[in-house]
Amino acid sequence: MARGIDLKTITDISILIGTGLSLYYLVNSLLNVESGPVGRSKEAKDKQAKQWMKLVETSPDLAETELNAYEKDILSSVVTPDEIEVTFSDVGGLENTIEGLHESVIYPLTMPELYSSNPLLQAPSGVLFYGPPGCGKTMLAKAIAKESSVNFISIRMSSIMDKYYGESNKIVDAIFSLANKIEPCIIFIDEIDSFLRERSSMDHEATATLKAEFMTLWDGLINNGRIMIIGATNRINDIDSAFLRRLPKRFLVSLPGEQERKRILKIFLKDTELDKDDFDLDKIAKLTAGFSGADLKEVCREAALKAAQEYIKLNKDKLSKCGTLVSGNVTGSVMRPLRTSDFLSAGPVENLD
Ligand SMILES: Nc1ncnc2c1ncn2[C@@H]1O[C@H](COP(=O)(O)OP(=O)(O)OP(=O)(O)O)[C@@H](O)[C@H]1O
Ligand SMILES: [Mg+2]
Repeated sequence: MARGIDLKTITDISILIGTGLSLYYLVNSLLNVESGPVGRSKEAKDKQAKQWMKLVETSPDLAETELNAYEKDILSSVVTPDEIEVTFSDVGGLENTIEGLHESVIYPLTMPELYSSNPLLQAPSGVLFYGPPGCGKTMLAKAIAKESSVNFISIRMSSIMDKYYGESNKIVDAIFSLANKIEPCIIFIDEIDSFLRERSSMDHEATATLKAEFMTLWDGLINNGRIMIIGATNRINDIDSAFLRRLPKRFLVSLPGEQERKRILKIFLKDTELDKDDFDLDKIAKLTAGFSGADLKEVCREAALKAAQEYIKLNKDKLSKCGTLVSGNVTGSVMRPLRTSDFLSAGPVENLD
């Protein structure tokens, strides 16, 4: 008998707890219906608010504009031109590409009156950078935003595709609606090939719906060049054909040749002292065939590191742990200039000499 009561009580309590929990989640979801993406920390919200204030500062008209929760979420991917450090003069060896970009992106962004006055002058609906990793695609896109003084929204396609159905659509909507609010701007879509990738969180039909949504929004952009879509990929053959059609202007950002490597190295070394008698740029450029811009940067970094390590070794007893001078004079107040050998023994060039 006592056992029977116990069981009944337990069942009743379970039902009560179950109902309570369901009610809690129901009320919670009703309350949260307008709050959009869940799980945003206070830190993230502060960052969004700061970014919005910055945008309002540069375009006071935005002060009256309201953002929905998803648009606010995209704010963390927005960079204003004054936050971008890179300009075309930092990009080495891509002079022809940069010239082409002036015609197809920069002029439409900066002279919209000219481009909207004549239908023949319509700006392209999008631009695609393709080529191996580390050769300057992201850099070029940022430099365009800087040089044209427009906002830059940087989106990684794979991060949209990883979201659950429903979230993805809302994010895509928010990207375009936010772009419309903060134009002129560039929507930079990295890994644009990801649309065709296998995905676990979304079935085939949902992917098709998302794709359709994306295309509709893309086609709906008022095509006066004030919002420019720039896609980037390492795998042009994997890009959805519908996307490819909307990216008629394509630029191959390939591995630099010898002359280009020289120009890139000069950019990286412009503020570094080089040995007058023992620095051979031609030799380094020759021996780094097949290196990307990112690889060359690493070579220069390692060369500088080598000289720095030597300096520390020489002055070990005179330097405190945090690098300040504790006693006597250090051998030479600055690091020695870099020599060819620093580059040739650095990292990947090791076996090339
Ligand atoms: N042409 C170049 N001139 C100067 N620096 C370069 C160049 N190419 C690459 N770099 C250096 O390499 C870094 C990486 O380049 P970036 O991110 O633009 O490559 P990416 O083509 O976008 O590569 P990924 O396909 O991996 O995204 C840059 O921050 C820059 O320091
Ligand atoms: Mg990149």
